[in-house]
Amino acid sequence: MPLNRRDLGRGCVACALSAGAAAPVLAAAPAHAKGKKIIKTKKVKKGKIVAKRGVVVTQPKKGTFRVFSATCTHQGCKVSSVDRKEIGCPCHGSRFSAKNGFVLAGPATKDLPPVAFVIEKGIIYLA
Ligand code: FES
Repeated sequence: MPLNRRDLGRGCVACALSAGAAAPVLAAAPAHAKGKKIIKTKKVKKGKIVAKRGVVVTQPKKGTFRVFSATCTHQGCKVSSVDRKEIGCPCHGSRFSAKNGFVLAGPATKDLPPVAFVIEKGIIYLA
């Protein structure tokens, strides 16, 4: 059974992805080793760079959150802008998708890596 957006938008991305495309997302919740708090979901709006965690949190669609490394894959600058569609790097102008971290415009050639997270009671944590 393929994963759908709803499966990935709520809860643990790492667990959903590790379940693989061929396996259903199990009803039983896995035991999470909840990591450090990133941010409250209500503070994200369209997107938010959380420098102290080195991540950028996006909300490409209302209620759907994504977390990526905030370090540009071109030469390591920190990204500086984010909205519902794009994450931007100020150094040389690379742009990445807020939905999946894919490169939209170079010079970066590698996508922003996703960061595993969990959402619990309206708070996003590192997984
Ligand atoms: Fe981000 Fe060059 S370091 S575009």
